[in-house]
Amino acid sequence: MPKRFFVKSYGCQMNVYDSARMSDLLRSGGHVETSDPAKADIIILNTCHIRERATEKIFSELGRVRELKSERASQGRKTKIVVAGCVAQAEGAEIVARQPAVDIVVGPQAYHHLPALLEGCASSPAIELDLAPVEKFAQLPLPARADIQARGVSAFVTVQEGCDKFCAFCVVPYTRGAEISRPVSAVLSEIENLAASGVREITLIGQNVNAYHGEGPDGRTWSLGRLLSRVAKVTGIKRLRYTTSHPLDMDDELIEAHRDLSVLMPYLHLPVQSGSDRVLAAMNRRHDARAYLRIVEKVREARPDIALSSDFIVGFPGETKADFEGTLDLVREVKFASSFSFKYSARPGTPSAQAKDQISDEVKMERLANLQALLEEQRQAFNHATVGRELDVLFDKPGRHQGQIAGKSPYLQPVHVEHRGAVIGDLASVLITAAGPNSLAGRLVEGKAAA
Ligand code: SAH
Ligand code: SF4
Ligand code: F3S
Repeated sequence: MPKRFFVKSYGCQMNVYDSARMSDLLRSGGHVETSDPAKADIIILNTCHIRERATEKIFSELGRVRELKSERASQGRKTKIVVAGCVAQAEGAEIVARQPAVDIVVGPQAYHHLPALLEGCASSPAIELDLAPVEKFAQLPLPARADIQARGVSAFVTVQEGCDKFCAFCVVPYTRGAEISRPVSAVLSEIENLAASGVREITLIGQNVNAYHGEGPDGRTWSLGRLLSRVAKVTGIKRLRYTTSHPLDMDDELIEAHRDLSVLMPYLHLPVQSGSDRVLAAMNRRHDARAYLRIVEKVREARPDIALSSDFIVGFPGETKADFEGTLDLVREVKFASSFSFKYSARPGTPSAQAKDQISDEVKMERLANLQALLEEQRQAFNHATVGRELDVLFDKPGRHQGQIAGKSPYLQPVHVEHRGAVIGDLASVLITAAGPNSLAGRLVEGKAAA
């Protein structure tokens, strides 16, 4: 019997992608998606384990979902609660012990088994945590045209999964398993299908996307740079991005792609985490601040208009005031367009969680506030510097006011203009006239459609 399902995604873009694929899978089995969990026969939480707060959020959400389940039960309706994603992989049966209303726990590499698990778990909870991702991709259906269109003109495509880097603070190698890359042909057929249904922008994603080393149609191993050059040729694709990259894997082929591919957006998310060599070593990042700065320089030589963003962790065990100053220095030197920054969170099972020299929350909060003030200043300066420039904008939704349309600049800034006939999916040249705190305003440049 067709059932109604609700999916909620937490955490990174990999999870957004996985949630869409779970939804495609259930739809292909005749089930119907709902945006109202109270109406759902199946509730799926696709979870994130990266920081303590992320995991705690899931357990409080599960408390609410349990209430829904018992309310529905009192009306004679059954509800199955599914915990998917990284908390599922990390905590497994513990989840059911802590919240017995959960029916299914399914890891990020095992969700292609979801239909079978839903069939099978009438009485006892079902737990499936197999970590063999290649099999998953081969078994997932391609999304239907109407679903692609409903999701909009930009789409994520996972090309690489898992991580072999083992940064001392990070759970990802344990929740997502070893690094694997999808074959080029599988990536291309997925992108061609998306493009044929109106997708105009593709972001290739992976926990370590630039470690991509997939099998090419020529039987050789292709790098991410090579894959990007091939994807750039897919009809209909006007923009390409990729995320998240590790500095160690920024090879020459990828840097040259930034020089050679006009559809590859001049925006690079390249997390550095810290500007202190001592902390970088303790984090097991395997490069120092100077190496990072050198990569930034090379990328800027290849593509002078490129903007950078990063992730930072403050208060890693043993981080001194001088180490933290090192981070501020690096930020001042690079000048980031936008960034994410976090207080270090000790995660179970990771090496740095055992370190004795943990930093107090008070110090972490103070450092985070200082860093965020500097990053915000740089973000505003970057946004203001785009005023007066002509930027290509890919329109992706109606504007806030009648007669307006909204889209994204190459630097992911939201831009609002009067549409004057432009429609969603168009790429057009826009003269930026003003910068607000979170978006830009501009006007279409006559006779300068970018595509
Ligand atoms: N693969 C990516 C990052 C994945 S996690 C990379 O290597 O950069 C996303 C971000 O979360 C990280 O860049 C880091 O800044 C942050 N993060 C990861 N583990 C964390 C922890 N234990 N505490 C605080 N922040 C963390
Ligand atoms: Fe985590 Fe480091 Fe791997 Fe990124 S590279 S996912 S931070 S272990
Ligand atoms: Fe979170 Fe897992 Fe992504 S821990 S950040 S959802 S890889």
